[in-house]
Amino acid sequence: MSNFSGKTALITGASSGMGMDYARQLCAAGANLILTARRVDRLEALKQELAAECAAKGVCVDIHVFACDLVNEASRESLIARIADAGLKVDILINNAGLGLQAPYLTQQWDDLHGMMQLDMNALSHLTHHYAADMKDRGEGYILLVASVAGHMAIPGYAAYSACKYYVRALGYALNGELAPDGIRVTVVSPGATETAFFEVAGHQRNWIACFMTGKSEHVVCAALKGLRRGTREVVPGTLNWLATFYSRLLPYGMMRRIMEVIF
Ligand SMILES: NC(=O)c1ccc[n+]([C@@H]2O[C@H](COP(=O)([O-])OP(=O)(O)OC[C@H]3O[C@@H](n4cnc5c(N)ncnc54)[C@H](OP(=O)(O)O)[C@@H]3O)[C@@H](O)[C@H]2O)c1
Repeated sequence: MSNFSGKTALITGASSGMGMDYARQLCAAGANLILTARRVDRLEALKQELAAECAAKGVCVDIHVFACDLVNEASRESLIARIADAGLKVDILINNAGLGLQAPYLTQQWDDLHGMMQLDMNALSHLTHHYAADMKDRGEGYILLVASVAGHMAIPGYAAYSACKYYVRALGYALNGELAPDGIRVTVVSPGATETAFFEVAGHQRNWIACFMTGKSEHVVCAALKGLRRGTREVVPGTLNWLATFYSRLLPYGMMRRIMEVIF
């Protein structure tokens, strides 16, 4: 990942799960980091961990922490302003923050669904719109959009979440082509079930099949960053996940839905 060295990466949702692994792996590749999420204590702890590792290796990277509730548009504007005021330029945007809600659609509160849509679609679109314009002026940049296997198949119990991730994939696919002439690489990563706090936040008790299919965060992140470096349109980490997305295009939806009901 040598071409990330010396660049500055903004990582959303860096306080937990895959966001922490994006920070660790980009830091190991020599990138400077801007970490954001709501839980600033966790971001500061990660900053200290990474700074200590860099010091032990004699490597120098800058790590900045900015608290932000990305659901809120004014907070996002304030984040963008604080990053600019600190004199920072974003070369790599990792749109990772997101959440899922698992329950029948009608049993979910509208405010919860609306908040999820704001985070999973609007925050990612807003930051991409802002930083892609800066990258275009500089003639280079990297943007990662974190989607999901759920963005390949409408999963019962995850209806709105699946719909959000379909949106993320469509945006990423279109921007991959649209921004390539400007020197900007746009990659969508669609992880399958991954061991993070995601299922706890989603309120989802996994059965043994879903647990068996759950992969490791660091593997997903490694595959995503490899794809981003190359400008791959979409990365689906893990053979089982790749097969699931492949067959979702071939099998009738009724059959896929029954399979997903068994798994999820
Ligand atoms: N784990 C899976 O099975 C899986 C599968 C497919 C896709 N994904 C996607 O992977 C991404 C990362 O999720 P994860 O699995 O690493 O889950 P996670 O451990 O729950 O991490 C989610 C991150 O999002 C941040 N976040 C949540 N609400 C936020 C808000 N209002 N403002 C700012 N940040 C917020 C959280 O930080 P704070 O709470 O500190 O704000 C946290 O850092 C998500 O986009 C998710 O949809 C996950």
